[in-house]
This record gives sequence, structure tokens and C-alpha cells, in this order.
Amino acid sequence: VIEDLPPLSGTLEYPMGVAIDSRETTGPAAELLLRHFTQITGENHMKPEAWYDAERNFRVHPEAAALMDFAQQNDLDLYGHVLVWHSQTPAWFFQDEAGQPLAADEAGKQALRDRLRTHIFAVAESLSDTWGAFGSDTNPLTAFDVVNEVVSDSGEYADGLRRSEWYRILGEEFIDLAFRYADEAFNQVHAAEGAEHPVTLFINDYNTEQDGKQDRYAALVQRLLDRGVPIDGVGHQFHVSLAMPVSALAAALDRFEGLGLEQIVTEFDVTTGTPVTEALLIEQGYYFRDAFEVFRAHDLFSVTVWGLTDGRSWRSSSGAPLLFDDALQAKPAYYGAAGAE
Ligand code: XIL
Repeated sequence: VIEDLPPLSGTLEYPMGVAIDSRETTGPAAELLLRHFTQITGENHMKPEAWYDAERNFRVHPEAAALMDFAQQNDLDLYGHVLVWHSQTPAWFFQDEAGQPLAADEAGKQALRDRLRTHIFAVAESLSDTWGAFGSDTNPLTAFDVVNEVVSDSGEYADGLRRSEWYRILGEEFIDLAFRYADEAFNQVHAAEGAEHPVTLFINDYNTEQDGKQDRYAALVQRLLDRGVPIDGVGHQFHVSLAMPVSALAAALDRFEGLGLEQIVTEFDVTTGTPVTEALLIEQGYYFRDAFEVFRAHDLFSVTVWGLTDGRSWRSSSGAPLLFDDALQAKPAYYGAAGAE
């Protein structure tokens, strides 16, 4: 039974999102989702590897299609995740026809540029073919994470970037190209007539609430702006625990204000540690209260929690990170997020 609670979305001036797959699109889970959320992210099924079958043929994953349909039918926004990542990406992206690693020479670079462009345009074309041009009434997609987790966890590199296969072959250029191709594909070629810039283009990363990573992230964003790269916004995953002061989340959001960019919380969850006790769940309730107070004080694109119920969380083994329990009942975290006393 879904409790008769005030919709969480009603407490924010921007969309309230949740990461899901098709299991949350039917039955009681869907009922709970539709009560509290106005935006969805595919937890896994719009990642690079999800668009290709075993024969490397491009197609919309049935799970991604289910989410597009669900969003369209229920008037939800759909947040795209993710066009370019070092993880959950087919190995052949970085190989030549013979299965050998692409070299970082001009031929290898051009091969990877072509693959990047082909991938991004295939995503945009397939989603607009079936659900209508971006910015039209029938297409729920409003934004995309263009690049995810490109910043290094280590301070050892001058450019502060992760040493991924993308980076090995193309260097920092892959980030610029990803935004340029995405802008062309989603906001020009496949945009509805008269729709101005229908898909907001984000960079996204984790640990942006931590000092060194935050410095490297800010430096990269500034370089992109200086080069005129068509980036629209900065994403903060905010996968945190009770040990991370909420003031660090506020400081991260403050840091990127005044750049003329959107900001977004893309993957919020807060682990309690284990064993999960009633006292920890109550402490978590206060954490969500304080965090959402910070979120409300900022002009964000949206806030998304990374899952609907604790048992479905990728971090459940570190302790009950979400708003609702496995019986679909509101935890103290919900009451906190909703701003209850
Ligand atoms: C996670 C999913 O939640 C898991 O189901 C999957 O096994 C691995 O990926 N940062 C991201 C997300 O950007 O895509 C990740 O999602 C969590 C960390």
C-alpha cells in the first residue's frame, strides 16, 4: 500500500528525479514513483554498451525504450545517462578491425573521433525517430550526461584528467568533441522546429564535494568554457555517507555558481554504514533534511536519487542509502527530504 504522503516533487522548484529500470515502471513501484518524482534516469540502459547487441549492431535497448515510453505516457522528464564513459563501454570502441588496441597516432585518433560521432548521432537519431524530435511534445528527453567521470582521482597529472582509453588515444580533445557532436545531434539536427536548445548538455562526476577532485573539475570546466565548448551544465553525483558534512555539498554547489552554467545533483544517495540501526536511519533523516535544504537554496536543473528503494541500490551493502524501504514505505530520509520537522 502506497502511503498517502505529500509528493516530494512538490517541495522543489525543479524536477525531482530517480534512477530506475523497467522494474519501476509497473505495479506498486510505479505508483510510488509517480507520486513523488517528475523525472527519471535510466540506471544502466542508456550507457554506451547498452546500445549495441552482441553483433555490435546499434539498437535502442528494450529497457531504454520502456523508460522513454513510461516517461512519455506519464509526462515525466527523462534524463539521459550517459554518452561517453570509461566504464560500461564496449571494448571494441577502442580497437581496430583486427581487434588490436587503436594506436594514439593520427589514424587511431581519426578512427575514435568517427566512432564517437557515429555513436552520439545514432543515439540522437534513434530516440528522435521513435519518440519525435527533441523539444517536441512527444519526446521526454530533456538532458544528457555527455561525459561522465573524466576527472582523475589523483592529483598527479597536470591536466587532472582520468587516464582512460578515450584519453590515451585522443587526449583532452575527446571531451570537446563529445559536447560538439552532442550539441549538433540533439540541439540542431534532431531538434524540433522552433525548439531552442531542447537538450541540456552536462558534464558529470563523483567526489566533487572533495577538495582536490573539485579543483580539478573546476579547472577542466573553465578550460571548456575558454575554448567555447557547448557545455550547458555541471553535474554532481553526490554518492556520500553520513560522514560527509552537508556543508561540503553546499560548498561544491557554491563553487560552480556564477559561471553561467546549470548545476544538477545527478545520483544522490547516503549510506548509513552497517549494521543499519534505527538510530542511524534517524540520523540519515536529518542528513536528508539538511541536504535538501541546501538543494532548495540553489537554483538547480534537478535533483535525482540513485534508486527508488534501498534493496535496489548499488550501494545497499554499505547501508540503506535511499528514501524508501523495500516495502515501499517512507523512511526518515523521506520525511527529512520533504522538509518535515
Ligand atoms: C551504477 C549502477 O547503479 C549499477 O547498477 C551498475 O552495476 C554500475 O553502475 N556513477 C555513475 C553510474 O555514473 O552510472 C553508476 O551506476 C554509479 C556511479
